Amino acid sequence: MSPPRRRPADAAAIAEAAALLRDGRLVAFPTETVYGLGADATSDRAVAAVFAAKRRPRFNPLIAHVPDAAAAAPLVRMDHLAGALAHAYWPGPLTLVLPRRATCPVSLLASAGLDSLAVRAPAHPVAQALLRAVGRPVAAPSANPSGRVSPTRAEHVGDLEGLALVLDGGPCAVGIESTVLDLTGPRPVLLRPGAVTREALEERLGPIETAAAGAAPKAPGQLASHYAPSLPVRLNARAARPGEALLGFADRAEAPVLNLSDGGDLTEAAANLFAMLRALDRPGFTAIAVAPIPEDGLGVAINDRLRRAAAPRGLPGGGDGDTSTP
Ligand code: TXA
Ligand code: MG
Repeated sequence: MSPPRRRPADAAAIAEAAALLRDGRLVAFPTETVYGLGADATSDRAVAAVFAAKRRPRFNPLIAHVPDAAAAAPLVRMDHLAGALAHAYWPGPLTLVLPRRATCPVSLLASAGLDSLAVRAPAHPVAQALLRAVGRPVAAPSANPSGRVSPTRAEHVGDLEGLALVLDGGPCAVGIESTVLDLTGPRPVLLRPGAVTREALEERLGPIETAAAGAAPKAPGQLASHYAPSLPVRLNARAARPGEALLGFADRAEAPVLNLSDGGDLTEAAANLFAMLRALDRPGFTAIAVAPIPEDGLGVAINDRLRRAAAPRGLPGGGDGDTSTP
């Protein structure tokens, strides 16, 4: 494949990148840690395109990038501790996982259906200028295909599907990803060690718990708080049984209440998945039945998430026994 289009990150290139992002396109941009694959975080479609580009076998939640704490405030509930950490480390390589506000405009897909959202204000001047020009939160995983190392130079950003532009801001100063700290529980939990060290955080917070399994980041299906509909979920449904709300895909099920994609487009289906599950998860229905989804492309991640939602409740990992990390 040909390399993606690259531009030195001058003012004109940043303006173009901001316009592309606002238009729902994907742009790779430098942060002080690694290059991110950015998308308008408020657009389900743009966020779905990120998962398609990364070829992730499942939906890992993404970090919403903002210029500063003031821009994070409408997205998440920042308690005193979160405010103090943001004050101390932002802009910088610390990601905070916080409760989503009910009015949070960020795509549910970016949160992978969780009630939490990861937010970070990157320090790189190009990232800062870009985020201010976009004026919206930007969802950005590292700009590598799933399972490959994170790029720390613009030349390392490969030809990811749908990538419109790479903003070249030179090599990344830090080179490893941000520290991810979960503040949604009673005590802070280190989900991913990173550029802000545990020692530095513990000086401020006291002893910090580490996520199990060598601090590997938790996949949404492994998080105790992960979103599963409160109604039972039945897969591969061709028609609704009495009381069921049927979620369709293309014309694979009869008379659905909602359709993930009338035209059978998996990117559109991914974009709609969490919002539609939530919409159908209400009293009046006894279960959510979901049409068969093809097991290719983004369909693999959609089915992974649906199987977790449909698994027997009360077991770790949504009951599928999968403790591997993506
Ligand atoms: O340095 C970085 O953080 C880079 C640059 C681009 O900012 N980004 C990055 O994103 O490394 P990504 O998607 O490769 O890693 C984000 C990590 C994942 O381990 C993910 O599971 C975790 O953050 N994460 C995101 N949202 C979360 C949430 N709501 N709950 C728990 N973990 C979350
Ligand atoms: Mg990554």
